[in-house]
Amino acid sequence: VSGVETDRAGRPVIVLTEPIAETGLEVLSGAGRVHVVGSTDLAALAPALAGADALVVRSSPVTAELLDLAPHLRVVGRHGAGLDNIDLAAARRRGIAVVNTPGANAASVAEFVILAALALARRLVPARAAFGSGSLSAQGSLPAAVVRSGLSGGMLHGRTLGLVGLGAIGTRVAAYARGLGMQVVACDPAVTRGPEGVRLGDLAMVLGASDVLSLHVPLVPATSHLIDASAIEQMRAGALLVNTARGGVVDEDAVLAALDSRQLGGYAVDVYDPEPPPADLPVLNHPAVLATPHMAAMTSDALAEMARSVASGVVDVLAGRTPPHLVPDPTEESR
Ligand SMILES: NC(=O)c1ccc[n+]([C@@H]2O[C@H](COP(=O)([O-])OP(=O)(O)OC[C@H]3O[C@@H](n4cnc5c(N)ncnc54)[C@H](O)[C@@H]3O)[C@@H](O)[C@H]2O)c1
Repeated sequence: VSGVETDRAGRPVIVLTEPIAETGLEVLSGAGRVHVVGSTDLAALAPALAGADALVVRSSPVTAELLDLAPHLRVVGRHGAGLDNIDLAAARRRGIAVVNTPGANAASVAEFVILAALALARRLVPARAAFGSGSLSAQGSLPAAVVRSGLSGGMLHGRTLGLVGLGAIGTRVAAYARGLGMQVVACDPAVTRGPEGVRLGDLAMVLGASDVLSLHVPLVPATSHLIDASAIEQMRAGALLVNTARGGVVDEDAVLAALDSRQLGGYAVDVYDPEPPPADLPVLNHPAVLATPHMAAMTSDALAEMARSVASGVVDVLAGRTPPHLVPDPTEESR
């Protein structure tokens, strides 16, 4: 890509902690020298960071300490939407631009939310376990055994989905849920006019109205443990909770207690605090929990789109252009 400037001799050096999809690597290779370190370990990254003009990360931390190792860095590209792994204030202080890929994985995550909600509603995890153990087959008629074993579940059609956060992902989930015949309610302080068919209100309204509650907020101080014991208490008895946002948005101990008391009918969780979680984390093997390994956005389709989007954002910054997904940065604005 012509027009890319570097303040040192030669082409800009673009360092990636981990590989990204080929479509993104091609865009980056057109603009600079690409170095995939293959590690998120600071000591392993240090030599590459010393000469880096750009850094592309997936969900590994970008701390002030890391930025100190990269004196020439002009841009950090976050392959994904959430920014909680990046010390934005530290980047700002150094005048380093940050770009991310909002929306690139929205359809992938939204499909996964519907999958998770359906799996909870249809008791897929316990049904699979019972079938695998032979206990259903031993009863003769399988459909009758399903009913007898309390595995009938319920439909989503006609039920109410509550969304906390109505951004790129929440909006998609709303549309898919409407397609299934669900009512949709949502809260989001930044949204005053929601999509058609979505009733807006505050968190208390959403908690009280939802048969299925799905979380689509970033992890920021205001959303840390947003779903705690008191929030769960305000939910309908037996409601289902889906968390594809961030582990820290939910007080997991409160969720486990609510599953045991049946205040919650099921929990689908794709995200943990910390990640990766310890192997003995109780939610990983709880019978009422569908626990998945942070995979909602990891479709080949979303990976290609995230790679393309982060690469073009990084190249834009290196070339002095304003990328479409520049994370708001007072240092940039004052230039
Ligand atoms: N599991 C995964 O693989 C995966 C993938 C992508 C994103 N995520 C998570 O999902 C989150 C949402 O993604 P997105 O692309 O929809 O982001 P987005 O920025 O488009 O939307 C987030 C919305 O949350 C709203 N919000 C903020 N604080 C709120 C609060 N207290 N109450 C209600 N709403 C609030 C914002 O106004 C915004 O509209 C990301 O921040 C990330 O943490 C997870």
